[in-house]
Amino acid sequence: GYRAEDEYDYLFKLVLIGDSGVGKSNLLSRFTKNEFNLESKSTIGVEFATRSLNIDGKVIKAQIWDTAGQESRFEIELNHLFHRYRAITSAYYRGAVGALLVYDVTRRPTFENALRWLKELRDHTDPNIVVMLIGNKSDLRHLISVSTEDGKDLAERESLYFMETSALEATNVDNAFTEVLAQIH
Ligand code: GTP
Ligand code: MG
Repeated sequence: GYRAEDEYDYLFKLVLIGDSGVGKSNLLSRFTKNEFNLESKSTIGVEFATRSLNIDGKVIKAQIWDTAGQESRFEIELNHLFHRYRAITSAYYRGAVGALLVYDVTRRPTFENALRWLKELRDHTDPNIVVMLIGNKSDLRHLISVSTEDGKDLAERESLYFMETSALEATNVDNAFTEVLAQIH
């Protein structure tokens, strides 16, 4: 039957986390707008986007939060101000029921940092949160420095879901978000 544009059965908050430049914002824009930007700027502050999906006959509205993983000096400064003085870190995680922890398969350090992101996430969220580890940029096949096995092993050790994605080629992006939403109860 007819449904108004913004009618939904469940509203789920998801957060994107991971180092700067791993592709969080492009995963979000691919999922919510089917857009990709090769020259996207580092995110300043917090951005949101939403998309509604039909899962098992229910309309699930995903409200997805995105912030910077921090790298360049200027952005670090702005984001520190933002996070420190406005208590944004807590607000960012508050009420999240799912998370996508993203690393870049071509940059090993972004994978090594996943445990730090996981700790911050665990410190700020409910233990039942659904977390998916995501190795993004799988299109850069000749530059891969984190194997699928490494990703799977970490996910198994930490009880996370796992997927490799390409925001550029739109590979597994819908699958990753949909799987997180489907696992939330
Ligand atoms: P911060 O906001 O600084 O935390 O970065 P981010 O994680 O949001 O990264 P962003 O989405 O801005 O992407 C960083 C760079 O990687 C951009 O140049 C993107 O075009 C590129 N990129 C993102 N996803 C992919 C991908 O799947 N494949 C390739 N080849 N490049 C990608
Ligand atoms: Mg970003």
